[in-house]
Amino acid sequence: MTGPESEGLPLRRAVCPGSFDPITNGHLDIIGRASKLYDVVHVAVMINQSKHGLFTVEERIELIREVTREYGNVEVESHHGLLVDFCKQRDIPAIVKGLRAVSDFDYELQMAQMNNGLSGVETLFVPTNPTYSFLSSSLVKEVATGVCDGAHLVPPVVVEALRERLKKH
Ligand code: PNS
Repeated sequence: MTGPESEGLPLRRAVCPGSFDPITNGHLDIIGRASKLYDVVHVAVMINQSKHGLFTVEERIELIREVTREYGNVEVESHHGLLVDFCKQRDIPAIVKGLRAVSDFDYELQMAQMNNGLSGVETLFVPTNPTYSFLSSSLVKEVATGVCDGAHLVPPVVVEALRERLKKH
């Protein structure tokens, strides 16, 4: 065994939270970059019962597991409730979020300050790869209903899942 665990050091953990309905290449870029900075990256699929998703939470988790498997240090779970409770339960001191544009900043700052005030957890903002600065799960779903299948926006397994799901609707 090598790494911090073998030396008796605590693992450095971070969480990437979101709805992930479905995961996009933009999400994947942030998770992949976080996985190089931390020993363990937890992906928290936050359950919002007032929002009906295209994919169930279990389907989202399955897709995320599949596309993050190669990183080797990503754990995917769902959570109902506050993100700070997810962090407290797993000893996670840091939230990693991608910032696409200035328009993201206002709300993200409010959440970061609230989360820090509630529990001391820190939020680290990672600038999104400019290739993905326009990308969101909502736009992907919209685009995938038309002639474009969004193959350049999401991993291949998600393209397949979108094709299947939209065929049924
Ligand atoms: O992918 P999204 O929908 O933009 O993600 C937003 C999400 C789920 C990360 C955010 O709404 C969140 O953290 N919700 C959990 C509830 C919570 O902790 N609320 C207090 C935040 S100040």
